Amino acid sequence: MSLTPEQILHALARVQDPDLHRDIVALGFVKRLQIDGGRVSFAIELTTPACPVREQLKTQAEEAVRTVPGVTSVDVTMTSQVRSSVAMSSAPAAAHVANLKNIIPIASGKGGVGKSTVSANLAVALAATGAKVGLLDADVYGPTIPTLLGVTAQPEITAEQRMIPIERYGLKVISMGFFMKPDEAVVWRGPMLHKTVQQFLSGVEWGELDYLLCDLPPGTGDVQLSLCQLIPVTGAVIVSTPQDVALNVAQKAIAMFKKLNVPILGVIENMSAFVCSHCGTREEIFGSGGARQTAERMRLPFLGDIPLETALRKASDAGTPIVLSDPSSPVAQAFTRVAQQLAAQASIRAMQGAGSGQPVVTF
Ligand SMILES: Nc1ncnc2c1ncn2[C@@H]1O[C@H](COP(=O)(O)OP(=O)(O)OP(=O)(O)O)[C@@H](O)[C@H]1O
Ligand SMILES: [Mg+2]
Repeated sequence: MSLTPEQILHALARVQDPDLHRDIVALGFVKRLQIDGGRVSFAIELTTPACPVREQLKTQAEEAVRTVPGVTSVDVTMTSQVRSSVAMSSAPAAAHVANLKNIIPIASGKGGVGKSTVSANLAVALAATGAKVGLLDADVYGPTIPTLLGVTAQPEITAEQRMIPIERYGLKVISMGFFMKPDEAVVWRGPMLHKTVQQFLSGVEWGELDYLLCDLPPGTGDVQLSLCQLIPVTGAVIVSTPQDVALNVAQKAIAMFKKLNVPILGVIENMSAFVCSHCGTREEIFGSGGARQTAERMRLPFLGDIPLETALRKASDAGTPIVLSDPSSPVAQAFTRVAQQLAAQASIRAMQGAGSGQPVVTF
């Protein structure tokens, strides 16, 4: 008796995606199934190349198919197609960002907690998986992305007056800093900021992007409001240090997004425990675990923690994110894990919103 596609799909239906809580056949992930005698081959198309359980799903799928009597070999190809979590929207600039599949603001309640450092490293970690990634430095008061990525060039402007983002480390990048002199200060008021944010969203030739990360200024001001009102964002990421004071203001930022009907994709704890490079002693300078507890209490996903590391600060100052300059370091690996969790949360939003034609689920 020869093998049938139904037999193989039946076996594959035992493989569950742990984030989406459905099996890979029902999710439509199994593609290009071919049966040649006892040889079975197929592709599993994930919703992100940064899937944290990619290898696990591959192994489980292979094992499931091997249990079917008559199967002699299994060949699984892992692919991905990032889904858009940005459903049809009446937001004013929605049409301009239609080719941006996931728009993710990175926010914090308090300044200096590491938003920009986290944004830059997450962006390169996502790009390293093969995703198409953009980074918008929306901190129009104190743009630091040009320094973090070592960019001194100025974007070209097309005949239609549209900005071409700078390409750096596989990312497309736009920052107010590209247009300012180093010692210049920005003293704009609300309406002007709104216009600038609008320009950065609709006046940039982003092309097609899987993820656009937006590094926000600290707090809950005009830029945050403009961004969330102008475009349909996937959901915000909140960065906090483990200190109580930072966590208290992080909760205010969360409350603001909630009011704006913007989902929270998750919380990241930055500057977690410091491990001494000489003696290995672990010191919890700002405390530890507070952001995880806050996330759990507020029923928000916790995306992971990033240790306090001198090497991270040095790499940032030198203009190369540590994910690229020292990818095997514990801090770079922490960023990679957080990037995978973030991509998984964006996929969950996309799958929840798929087909509904409505903006993705809020709280
Ligand atoms: N995990 C870390 N370990 C060591 N240094 C860090 C870490 N995270 C951030 N830093 C350093 O802390 C400083 C502030 O970080 P960053 O500029 O990313 O914060 P921010 O939240 O974007 O600040 P702002 O609110 O001013 O925009 C920088 O010097 C950065 O290199
Ligand atoms: Mg910053």
